[in-house]
Amino acid sequence: MAHKKKKIGLIGGGQIGGNLALLAVQKQLGDVVLYDIPAAEGLVKGKALDINQLSAVDGLDCRVTGSTDWKDVAGSDVIIITAGVPRKPGMTREDLLDVNLKIMRDVAGNIKQHAPNAFVINVANPLDAMVYALHKIAGLPDNMVVGMAGVLDTSRFKCFVAEALGSSIRDVEALVLGGHGDDMVPLVRHSTVGGVPLTQLIAKDKLDAIIDRTRKGGAELVGLYKTGSAYFGPAASSIAMAESFLFDRKRVLPAAAMLKGQYGISDFFFGVPVQIGAGGVEKVITVELNDAEKAELKKSYESVKQTVELVKL
Ligand code: LMR
Repeated sequence: MAHKKKKIGLIGGGQIGGNLALLAVQKQLGDVVLYDIPAAEGLVKGKALDINQLSAVDGLDCRVTGSTDWKDVAGSDVIIITAGVPRKPGMTREDLLDVNLKIMRDVAGNIKQHAPNAFVINVANPLDAMVYALHKIAGLPDNMVVGMAGVLDTSRFKCFVAEALGSSIRDVEALVLGGHGDDMVPLVRHSTVGGVPLTQLIAKDKLDAIIDRTRKGGAELVGLYKTGSAYFGPAASSIAMAESFLFDRKRVLPAAAMLKGQYGISDFFFGVPVQIGAGGVEKVITVELNDAEKAELKKSYESVKQTVELVKL
């Protein structure tokens, strides 16, 4: 039977969008439509052409189309939303709520109309609140919409641990729970390097510094870039989720996903480990937490809730 190529719709042709398109082609996930508004037509068409020319170097058979027409996005298996404004130094992610909610309204309405069956991954900030808005406006099933940040936050945590130990990142197993904000919860007690608990390898004061740096990982990059925020990490994180869905890998990845009573939270998108496969979010995984971890998670939940309450649809 002929294998049908997958279709990946990327909404937003900026830095993350361009990197997403490149990664999708290099990993041969499927054909890509890189969409943006008409004012950015040259950008998406240029990036598409550039990547298609690059694909000849390695013989990659996935095509990128740059488009300003939602009809081209129709029928996408996966959609990744990066449309929106990035923060600048001195801003919080929450400062982006009004401007990005306006953009999300349009994007989610178009997803509802043109690609209601897609698995949708949101990258726009404030991340958890945008996932809430997207789910509501697009009317997507609970299992077909996620926020990307858990993979990114966990990846930052792992990176800083490997750096501190001078060890291979491959052996670092770690997890960050909670919302994509300064109250996220890097789970030290559950993290290991080569099977050895992190607490036995890194002194408490150093671990505290790593936790703090992880929590402020996005702001550190905003401070360095000055005109925008991270793009390589968010792109790679979203692609890991997309790949798991497209190829039914059933990877367990931390994502902002709909909770239905797990962790004592109901009808709310929040960062926890989930299994992603052909059925979208197929399972929410519950991590055993002690009282201190539960309290930290509650704090993170409360701050996400505060932002979500500001979303007027
Ligand atoms: C990140 O964590 O890199 C993103 O959420 C962008 C930001 O503003 O921090």
